[in-house]
Formats: sequence, structure tokens, C-alpha cells
Amino acid sequence: MAQHLHNLGRQSQGTVVHVPDNIELGGEVTKHTNYVVEQLVADAFDAFVDVMDISCLEDTQTSCRTRLARVLRSDRCFCVYDTRLPHVTNQNQPETEVFKGPCHQMVATLGLYDLDMVVPGGRIEMAGVTAVSVRPTHRRRGLLRQMLSHGLQNARARGQTMAALWATEPTIYRRFGFGSAVKVATHLITACLEILGPSLGDPMIVMVDRATFLDSARALYDRNLDKRPGVFRRSTDWWEARQLVASPFGSFPGACLRYALALRGEEVVGYLLFHTNSEKQDSNDGGVLFIREIFGTDVAAELELWRFAANHDLVSTLRAPFRPYPDPIIALARDSRMIKTTVSEGLHLRFLDVANALSARRYAISGKIDIALEGPDDVAGLYCIFVTSDGRAQCRRVAKQPIATDSSVRLHASTLAEVFFGGHRVSYLARAGQIEGPTDVIDRMDLMFLHRNTPVSLEIF
Ligand SMILES: CC(C)(COP(=O)(O)OP(=O)(O)OC[C@H]1O[C@@H](n2cnc3c(N)ncnc32)[C@H](O)[C@@H]1OP(=O)(O)O)[C@@H](O)C(=O)NCCC(=O)NCCS
Repeated sequence: MAQHLHNLGRQSQGTVVHVPDNIELGGEVTKHTNYVVEQLVADAFDAFVDVMDISCLEDTQTSCRTRLARVLRSDRCFCVYDTRLPHVTNQNQPETEVFKGPCHQMVATLGLYDLDMVVPGGRIEMAGVTAVSVRPTHRRRGLLRQMLSHGLQNARARGQTMAALWATEPTIYRRFGFGSAVKVATHLITACLEILGPSLGDPMIVMVDRATFLDSARALYDRNLDKRPGVFRRSTDWWEARQLVASPFGSFPGACLRYALALRGEEVVGYLLFHTNSEKQDSNDGGVLFIREIFGTDVAAELELWRFAANHDLVSTLRAPFRPYPDPIIALARDSRMIKTTVSEGLHLRFLDVANALSARRYAISGKIDIALEGPDDVAGLYCIFVTSDGRAQCRRVAKQPIATDSSVRLHASTLAEVFFGGHRVSYLARAGQIEGPTDVIDRMDLMFLHRNTPVSLEIF
């Protein structure tokens, strides 16, 4: 064994060869001959989760693995094998049957969801990048770069015009052309009668069972989808495996979900999905009510659901993550000091086809803008966007180089991704030196990219 380990340590990391067919991610895309990127075979799904666990210091239990397999198709997953090393089992998981997957050691993973995502005034076929992990033994050798290049190329070949991800380490992804497009707020709210006032009884709040909630909440969610940039259509599997659980990643074992609807007559005008602490509280402490998701078709409906949560006996704090920022609930509170808000990075976007993505959204004012876009070669260039009075746009790439003209703006692809949903103002990023150009053109672009609805990211994927 010692000799075996000694020999492994002496092996080189392989010959570096260029991979011409992949997306250039702004650096040298290289491939070591010892590493092969492959589409995942279904039998290796557990090995895939094992690599994520080892990389992210998790221990994903069987129930979570089963839920993940309901939404993440193995044929949309990619992994890297180190052909020098044998397959290794995860010692924390029982080996239920003989492993039928590839014989080499899986050392890196990446998955893609096919998301039908709302953008201002339209929808986009989006590749949701997930399950990014590289074994601790194989880091800083370019495996993430290699897998991402492969995954984005695959997404573009399927006609997807953008990619999106949630980043544990946001600093990694700008170099690949990703920009933070959605800020998410997490509120800790003092739960008391004073903060939002007493219930008005209109709409009426009723608690229902899981099946009724799923039918009603899903129908309401779908009807209001297009008003919320950043939200995507959810399949039944997605609702059941990702939303109707206290935590899809197993953070609240034993927590019991509760389901509430807001009714005006027979019409469902809102829903609230919540749970309380999984552990019993000291009787004097008061518990935490975790809001998994809250939605009302109008302010009165949503406010009544918030009141229902805030006026709960035995609860001292509401915890509400995945809220838009700014969030109307802060303006609705009688004393906003009772809401402690933390704002963090939510969804990051990356263009795969800039012209088609820019043409897919609507704009607030008409006009023409030339954009000299810097960044990875596959998206860099000079783009011309022309918006008509109905807010529709036509955009084309007129050059593959970001040649700025007297009347163009200059920015990086990751900055364009930041303003794409209207969540970040062009004028603000221009003041921060991220967008350059004549003042009148920046002012026009600023107004053009505004959108009345704040983007939101309701869930990590
Ligand atoms: C983060 C992770 C996926 C990076 O994989 P990797 O194969 O080591 O990354 P690469 O070697 O391809 O590096 C690509 C670039 O990202 C940079 N990078 C990698 N990890 C980084 C980190 N943690 N922080 C900042 N930059 C990082 C590298 O320096 C390199 O930049 P350069 O090419 O401009 O010099 C890997 O370290 C990992 O699995 N970490 C734990 C799990 C995790 O955090 N996953 C979620 C990421 S959202």
C-alpha cells in the first residue's frame, strides 16, 4: 500500500492539451490527459453526490439523495474522472449493491437544470448550473474551468441563451463572465402585534393539508410567474422535492411544514409555507417561525399573511430568507427597526448568446445603444440594441471585438449580467466605474433597463 501511494505521488499531472471546441472562459482552457470529462451514467449518481459531499463537507442522507435525483437528471450531469485512480466508495454510505459505474475515481462534478426563467417582460431558456465540486485532492488544476467550459458549451448547444448559478464563493465566477443579478434579503423580524397590526380578517387565512396547498399554491404561482423576474417554472417534482420540504438539503431534520392560504370568497389570493424550530424551545424563549415562502397577489393579501405569521403565539422571531431587496415588508412595518436585514448575493447570470438574451426582455424606454462588451471571447464584441416604443428590442452583434465608438458604452459581460434583470441600476454601476461612456448614453441606458418589478430568487439550486 505504501509503495502504491508512493508511486501515485510520483505520477505527473499529465500532458496539457488544448480543447478547441469548448467555450473560452477568459483563460487557458486546458485538459490533462489523466482527466476525462464525461456525462454521468445513472449508476454513478451516488458517486456523484459522494464527491459533492467530500468537497462541500456535507453528509447527504438517503432521503435528500432521493429528492435530488427527482429534479437533477443524470444525463444533465457531468463529472471528471482521474484515470490513474480506482473508484472509491463513500465510507459514510452503505454499499447496497455492487457498484456498476465507471471504474475510475470521480474527482469533480457539475450539473445543469433546464430552467424556463422569467426576465423583465419575457422568458429565457436558462441553464441552471449546480453541484459544482472538486475533490480537495484535485483542486487548483483547472478542473472547474474545464467542467464549466464543457457545461456551458453543452447548454449553448441546447439553445439556452443564459446560464445562472448560486455561488458559495462569488469571487470565483466573475472571471468566467458571471455577474450578480439578484440581491436576496434575509429578515429577522420581531414577531409581535405591534409590528404589522392586528389581522383584518380580509382575506381570510385558512390552514390546509399538503395536497390542497400544492394545488392552490402552484396554480397561483404559475398565474403570477411573469411578474417576477428571476423566478422559474416549477415542475411537480420540483414542488415536491424542493419546496414542500423544510429544507431540501436536510438542514431542519424533524421540522414540520405548515400550509396556509389566503382566501377572498372562494378565490385563493395568497399562500404561506412555514415551519417552526425542529427542537423544543425553552418555554420562556419563544420560538422562531421560518418562512419558507410567502406570496400574495396584492399588498392586502400578502400583508394579512405576514400578520398571521407575526401574530403567532409562542413565536418571538420570524426568519424570512429569499426576499427581494428592497422588500415592501420593510415599508409596511410600523417600526422598521424591528426588522434586521442581511443582504447577500443571490442569482448570478452569464450570457451564452448576448444578442438573443437582450432581445428576449422588454425595456422601459425606446432608443438605440451601442455596447462594447468585454469579457470571455464567446460573448465579447460590439452589440447594437434598438428598442421600439412598445419596449421590444432587436439586438445584434456587429463585431467580435469590443471596439468602443464615441457614442457607445463599454462594460464587462459580468456587469451587463448584473443590470439585465433591472435589479441593479446602470447609473449606480457607472458611478462605480464599471460602465463607461458619454453621460447622455449612460442616462438613456439607465432608464431603458429599469423594470417595475424587483427581481427575486426564491430558492438556492
Ligand atoms: C471552488 C472549486 C469548485 C474550484 O475548483 P478548482 O478545480 O480548484 O478551480 P480551478 O483550478 O479550475 O480554478 C479556476 C479559477 O478559479 C480560481 N479559484 C478556484 N477556487 C477559488 C476560491 N475558492 N476562491 C477564489 N478563487 C478560486 C482559481 O484561482 C482559478 O483562477 P485563475 O484561472 O484566474 O487563476 C473547488 O475548490 C471546490 O470544490 N471547493 C469546495 C466546494 C465549493 O465551494 N463549491 C461551490 C463553489 S460555488
